[in-house]
Amino acid sequence: MKVYLDHSATTPVDPEVARAMYECMLHNWGNPSSIHSFGREAKKAMEEAREKVAAAIGADDPAEIIFTSGGTEADNLAIKGVAEANAKRGNHIITSSVEHHAVLDACKYLEKHGFEVTYLPVDEYGMVSVEDVRRAITDRTILISIMHANNEVGTIQPVEEIGRLAREKGIYFHVDAVQTVGKIPVNVKDLNCDLLSISAHKIYGPKGIGCLYVRKGTRILPIQHGGAQERRRRAGTENMPGIVGFGVAIEKAVREMPERAEKERKLRDKIINTVMNTIPHTKLNGHPEKRLPNNANFSFQYIEGESILLMLDMKGIAASSGSACTSGSLEPSHVLLAMGIPHEIAHGSVRFTLGKDNTEEQIDYLLEVLPEIVERLRAMSPLYQKEDQKAR
Ligand SMILES: Cc1ncc(COP(=O)(O)O)c(C=O)c1O
Repeated sequence: MKVYLDHSATTPVDPEVARAMYECMLHNWGNPSSIHSFGREAKKAMEEAREKVAAAIGADDPAEIIFTSGGTEADNLAIKGVAEANAKRGNHIITSSVEHHAVLDACKYLEKHGFEVTYLPVDEYGMVSVEDVRRAITDRTILISIMHANNEVGTIQPVEEIGRLAREKGIYFHVDAVQTVGKIPVNVKDLNCDLLSISAHKIYGPKGIGCLYVRKGTRILPIQHGGAQERRRRAGTENMPGIVGFGVAIEKAVREMPERAEKERKLRDKIINTVMNTIPHTKLNGHPEKRLPNNANFSFQYIEGESILLMLDMKGIAASSGSACTSGSLEPSHVLLAMGIPHEIAHGSVRFTLGKDNTEEQIDYLLEVLPEIVERLRAMSPLYQKEDQKAR
């Protein structure tokens, strides 16, 4: 049996999305900047997709959507673009220590160019404190960037309150919503945000396309230069098939969200309850309630997450030992370390992220195979044997 449980890394493309993209490539291949009929037709399709994206997140005006090459570019544009445009007002940025590297590394880059960044700590569940945000604000703060939910442990941040605080203080607020769109409600008004990042490949859309929502009136500069596309905010001929596919994917993701989330939550709870009740020396990472409906992240003590992944893979089950971007490196996850989890326990972490097409039968298969794998690896672990003898 093949079981894909890595939907936070990427999702398969929905056939309806693929068909819309195919149609676009074959029959609507014009350049949306051209003034002839081929260009006008392409522009029409692009603007329809923009309207769908804007409607999906409650934006007032489709012109507030800037298409980008994905979540990474949207995060970079938000952070570097706002920093540069507002440098005269201040040079301080607040973010958290559990953000995606697209945010963290953009901030590190700015630190080399005269900006100061506060990386807020998180509690044991990976949660940022609104009080910590309040205390970190100075009269030089121009931007706060906090993710809606964490990609590794699924913890949902108190972004509404942080947004209210930012608005009260006249500070721009950016939310990385790459992991939340289509899973929990995302509305730019409710979140009180000025900027919001989305990526299509997490919602059954294609890779290499996403957007940054920029509230009207937000001062932002482009980070790449060239043509006048996207109202001069993002140069480069638009990824038309990607944009069309993104529009179809986001409309469907938001429409089907209640059923998808309900189904995923049920399967997730089955995984969490069974694993916690049947596999000893196991820790659930992330918040017990305020977490994404599709995320279950565990640390299995005394063994390596990578070994578990390899053995799961041999059984046809795909999971992840951290974010897609950090797997492949042997450094333990910065998110788990920021939550105060010791190195050796962080090393034994595995993330299962469900998707709309997972079935109960697949989860039963996982729950049959996983305890055996953990037991087999622990039987080979000198660390475990030492602990086991001590306990006897
Ligand atoms: C929270 C978060 N932000 C940003 C990204 C980057 O998005 P993309 O893969 O579209 O560049 C990801 C991808 O894993 C993510 O999980």
